[in-house]
Amino acid sequence: MIIGSVSENTNIEKRVAITPDIIKKYKLLGLEVNLSKNYAYHLGISDKEFENHGAKILSSDEVIAKSNVILQMNILDDENLKKLQKNQILVGVLNPFINSAKLKELTSKNIKCFALEMLPRITRAQSMDILSSQANLAGYKAVVDSFAYFQKAIPMMMTAAGTISAAKVLVVGAGVAGLQAIATAKRMGAIVFATDVRLASKEQVESLGGKFLSVEGSENLETEGGYAKETSDDFKKRQEELLIDTLKKIDIVVCTALIPGKKAPVIIKKEMIEIMPNGSVIYDLAASQGGNSELTKVDEIVDSNGVKIMGETNILNKLPVSASNLYSKNIYNFINNLFDKDKKSFNINLEDEIIEKTIIK
Ligand code: NAI
Repeated sequence: MIIGSVSENTNIEKRVAITPDIIKKYKLLGLEVNLSKNYAYHLGISDKEFENHGAKILSSDEVIAKSNVILQMNILDDENLKKLQKNQILVGVLNPFINSAKLKELTSKNIKCFALEMLPRITRAQSMDILSSQANLAGYKAVVDSFAYFQKAIPMMMTAAGTISAAKVLVVGAGVAGLQAIATAKRMGAIVFATDVRLASKEQVESLGGKFLSVEGSENLETEGGYAKETSDDFKKRQEELLIDTLKKIDIVVCTALIPGKKAPVIIKKEMIEIMPNGSVIYDLAASQGGNSELTKVDEIVDSNGVKIMGETNILNKLPVSASNLYSKNIYNFINNLFDKDKKSFNINLEDEIIEKTIIK
């Protein structure tokens, strides 16, 4: 059995699905690895290095024609999708809501597709959880980038020339990205506040040294799967009051609030941005899903009366080596679960929750 992966458009996606160190693990499973030419050249990884680890370098067409399973970061482009054949398997972040027509066509040709963003958040799937591995890095990078853009020092400094007070950071949404943002900001000496609609996050925020801001009288807005529910108008009003009070003294806001399958909630309104101190920075990690701040524009730095609002389509393109290293381990763990080592074949067992939840039907 052979797994393969082809280069993606590096102007849009710099991450890759297979890094050199993971190849020996595939080989130990009994799988061969095919990669297209210059697969990760943009990350400083040569074809020779992949070959030294045991991969075969072929043309993109050959990789697709000869591999049983194609592992990608994103869905293949239209031209490559047409080349897939019956019984092949495609695995990646396939974005089934946006790509539903393409995926339907593939499944009608009996090509099995697995969307890794649909993995259940269960203990057994933790090592495959691409949402967590990537959100963790995104939370870190949003803090580093916003701090670099902020024109003051972050930690408190007592010097002979006087004292600099510590920067105050607010993290909106304390899920995986938010918790890493809190940890990173604390490590760099900021005073950190955070808010979330899930009450379980209070303890996690506090364990990282952050101060949790609870919306007064609010119930726990958490689904059974651990995700956030949409908030009521009454909740929004009370959250707004809390944030207006807080934002007057905040230097940096990191927004991470998401609701699966929906547009990101707009939490930081225009009038709230107006009361923020001049020179403050908002980093909106929810930008590509519509943004948590009303003034966010994707891939632009908006200046609203001295407050800078930043948000990018794919912040992970700014640390693609780390992101690829984690993603390639996640995807290997997924393949390890899908591959039957005794029968030396892929076993699509729909009784396995991991397989059942990720397969496109
Ligand atoms: P996410 O990326 O969907 O959302 C980010 C955060 O925004 C969440 O904490 C959410 O509650 C919050 N949020 C949404 N709307 C909001 C609003 N209006 N105001 C303030 N905050 C708002 O979430 P993520 O990071 O993917 O985590 C989802 C859940 O999955 C969490 O409960 C997390 O602990 C859990 N999880 C479980 C894992 C496991 O293996 N057991 C692994 C990773 C995450």
